[in-house]
Amino acid sequence: MGRSTPFYACQSCGAQSRQFFGRCPGCGSWNSLVEQSNPAADGRRRRAAPAPPPEGAAPRARRSEPIHSVGERPLRRLATGFPELDRVLGGGLVPGSLVLVGGDPGIGKSTLLLQSARALADSCSVLYVSAEESAQQVKLRWRRLGPEQGTKEEEPLQQAGLQLLAETDLELVLQELEALRPAVAIIDSIQALHDAELSSVPGSVSQVRDCAAALQRLAKRQDTALLLVGHVTKEGMLAGPKVLEHLVDAVLTFEGDRFASHRLLRAVKNRFGATHELGVFEMRDRGLAEVTNPSELFLGGEGPCPGTATIVACEGTRPLLVDLQALVSSTSYASPRRTATGIGINRLHQILAVLEKHLGLPLSRFDCYLAVAGGLDVEEPAADLGVAAAVVASFRDLTLPAGTVLVGELGLGGQIRPVGQLELRLQEAARLGFTRAVVPRGGGLAPAAAALGLELLEAGGVAEALVAALGVNPAAD
Ligand code: TYD
Ligand code: MG
Repeated sequence: MGRSTPFYACQSCGAQSRQFFGRCPGCGSWNSLVEQSNPAADGRRRRAAPAPPPEGAAPRARRSEPIHSVGERPLRRLATGFPELDRVLGGGLVPGSLVLVGGDPGIGKSTLLLQSARALADSCSVLYVSAEESAQQVKLRWRRLGPEQGTKEEEPLQQAGLQLLAETDLELVLQELEALRPAVAIIDSIQALHDAELSSVPGSVSQVRDCAAALQRLAKRQDTALLLVGHVTKEGMLAGPKVLEHLVDAVLTFEGDRFASHRLLRAVKNRFGATHELGVFEMRDRGLAEVTNPSELFLGGEGPCPGTATIVACEGTRPLLVDLQALVSSTSYASPRRTATGIGINRLHQILAVLEKHLGLPLSRFDCYLAVAGGLDVEEPAADLGVAAAVVASFRDLTLPAGTVLVGELGLGGQIRPVGQLELRLQEAARLGFTRAVVPRGGGLAPAAAALGLELLEAGGVAEALVAALGVNPAAD
C-alpha cells in the first residue's frame, strides 16, 4: 500500500484541511488538529438503504435477537499475581480485554507489568513487547524482580510461558502476536510503537491511535488480553488528547509522589468493574510490593497535635484513614497566603469563607497552609469537615481528642451534608482503633456505631460539629 497524502482533522469540530494549523480555522480551538491516515475511509460513500423485498417474498432474516436469549459466557478472569491489581481491574484480567496503564515516566509502570507478566506466565502464555528497552535490559529487570540470587527458590530460572520481544515496528509486533496467540500481551509502551504506513513520528496522536486500534482488532479476534503502557504527556493527558480512552476497556492510572515510595493505582474507566477503585503499592529494591493496610500509610503516626485532624476518605469501595494538617498564622502580606497539598485550593478557600462567616473567625487576616499526609490526593467533599477542624484547631491552638475522626461535607450555609458509604468508613475507623466519629446528622447509624464501639457525634451545622469534636466552642467571643 502506498503512502497516502496526510490531511488534518479538528478533534473538536471535525473540520478538515490539507495543511496543519496550530489553531483550527473552523472553530478556533488550539492544538486540536490531528493527522488522519486514510482520506479514502472518510470519503467512503454510505450504502443506500436496501430496497424493500418484492411482494410475496419471504421477509429478510433478522440479525438482532431478544436480549433474554443472548447467550452468556461466564466472565473468566486471570489472576495477575497482585491481588491489589486484580481488585482495581474488577477481579482480575478479562481475556480479550484492552487495558491502558498510564502514568508519569519512571513511576513504575514497566516494573508493575513485568512483575505481573512473571506471575501470569505460571498459568498462561504471555508476550512482553518492549519497545523502549532492549531485551537485555528487560532480562536484567526480570531477574531482579524474581527471588534473590543464590536462594533455593531462584532455580529453575526458566519461564517458558513468558516470551520477550524488543521491537518498535507495529507490523512485526502484530505478526508475532498472530504467530504466538498468547493469552496476555503487554505493550511497553504504545507511544514507542510505530506504524511505517503513517508519515507522522512515533508518539503522535495518529500513530498512537492507529497502533492501538490495529492491536485491538487482532487481540479481540484471538481473545488476547492486551495491556498497553501509556505515558502521561506534559499536559497530563494519557497518550495524547484522550485518544485512547474511548477505545480501551479499562484505563488505570499509576501515580505517586516522586519523594515517597508508595504508588497508587486507580481505575479511571472500567467496563468490567467499578471505577475509582484504588490499589496501593510500595516500590522496594526488588520491585513493587502490595500495601495491604494503606490507612497506616496516611496516618501521621505522631499522635494528636494542634492543627491535625483525621478523616476517612473513600476511594472506590475502599475507605482510607488520612491525616490532615493545617497551619494558620497571622499574615505579613497584604493578601494572606493559602496553599493546599492534596486538596483543591478552591475547596480550602470555600471552607475558610464558611468558617469566617459562620464562626466569626477572622481568617482573612491569617495565612493558611494545608497538607494531606502521605501525598494522597483527596478529591471528595467528605473531607470538608476534617479540613475545617484542622484549620480551627490550628487557629485556636487546640488538639483534637485522640481517636477522633471527622466525616462530612460542608455546605455554603454552614450545614453539614450527608456523605456516601458512611457505614464502611466507620467500620474502617473502628478497625484502626478510633473511638469517636463526628458525622452528619440523620444517617441512622447510631446502632451500627454502638456495635462497633464508636461514640457517634451527629451534627447538623459546622459550629455544632466543631464543638462536639474539640470539646470547646471555637467560635469568636
Ligand atoms: P519503571 O518501571 O522503569 O518506570 P516506568 O516504566 O513507569 O517509566 O520504574 C522506574 C523506577 O523504579 C526507577 O526509578 C527505579 C525504580 N525501581 C525500584 O526502586 N526498584 C525496583 O526493583 C525496580 C525494578 C525499579
Ligand atoms: Mg517503562
